[in-house]
Amino acid sequence: FMVDKGNRRHFMEKEIHEQPEVISHTLAHYVDFVGGVLKPLDLPFDFAKIDRLAISACGTAYLAGLISKYWFERYARLPVDIDVASEFRYREMPLSKNDAAFFISQSGETADTLASLRYCRKAGMKIGAVVNVRESTMARESDVILPTLAGPEIGVASTKAFTCQLSVLASLAVRAGVARGTISREQETTLVRQLSEAPRYANQVLKLDGQIEKVARDLSHYKNVLYLGRDTNFPLAMEGALKLKEISYIHAEGYAAGELKHGPIALIDENMPVIVIAPHDRIFEKTVSNMQEVAARGGKIILITDSRGAAHATVKTMETIVLPDVPEIISPIIYALPIQMLAYFTAVFMGTDVDQPRNLAKSVTVE
Ligand code: AGP
Repeated sequence: FMVDKGNRRHFMEKEIHEQPEVISHTLAHYVDFVGGVLKPLDLPFDFAKIDRLAISACGTAYLAGLISKYWFERYARLPVDIDVASEFRYREMPLSKNDAAFFISQSGETADTLASLRYCRKAGMKIGAVVNVRESTMARESDVILPTLAGPEIGVASTKAFTCQLSVLASLAVRAGVARGTISREQETTLVRQLSEAPRYANQVLKLDGQIEKVARDLSHYKNVLYLGRDTNFPLAMEGALKLKEISYIHAEGYAAGELKHGPIALIDENMPVIVIAPHDRIFEKTVSNMQEVAARGGKIILITDSRGAAHATVKTMETIVLPDVPEIISPIIYALPIQMLAYFTAVFMGTDVDQPRNLAKSVTVE
């Protein structure tokens, strides 16, 4: 079948805009919006009986996994061991057949991720595959397919697959919490209701495209960009940097904000825009001190936050992008959008081939 761009300039733009809808489809597979409960899911293992979850993936899918580590550990008290697949398969970590392993992949064909899956299979672990292509090799070789319902993703830069992966993983973390008794039935309902609000908030964020395009025009004049975040916004900072370098070819790094003074601060001057991803959460003040350190060295701050964050950020920014105030559990899903849009518009200003960036393949099926 044919997939076309509709009235969009690029597949990536179209796929960014599809997110409210595909997040909703994906979530509906796992949660009952009306009842405010998780839908039944036949898992080949019991979250209550495993001691650890191993996760392996590449690129953007790996960063979705890294965000889910925060969720599984926070909501379900389930330790997660995660690595990029090319390290996972060779680092000889001790694996237990009593534990489960999740593999995250849009294509379901990525060579290193597939090799990691087979490696865990050999170790006798139970295998779950979070995949977008249901007919893929990973789907076939897993014990349970945990589908993302993003539809075909054509742009090489992953966007909607990522937020759908996050949606699946968030629902699984809640499920793990219920199974392990760390989430009560009331909390389950609250969290499910919060998840169900993600598509609506995503829609609101898409309307910020005018402002984000303006920031992207500025960004396209720089050679290096630093992204900072704490907690789940740390993997998101790495995702922002990955997206930007992939399609605009601007060098970018994503760092945990707390690591700033352990090295990257040496790079800060007026030629270094710093994108800070910081909703007003319980560690917001820590990030404010990092921003002050950046500002004191002439660094240009682009702050992505919410209304409370904007009110409490006592620092001069080049631009502040204010997102809706969203519940903690959906924050990474919602904050992914401005990150993707920023990379997209910057690449458009740079005149690169957005959907087919140089040297990259949509699916890396050789090691
Ligand atoms: C994302 O923008 C990249 N193109 C890339 O990192 C991708 O996420 C990675 O290659 C994994 O692909 P997969 O999800 O198909 O396994």
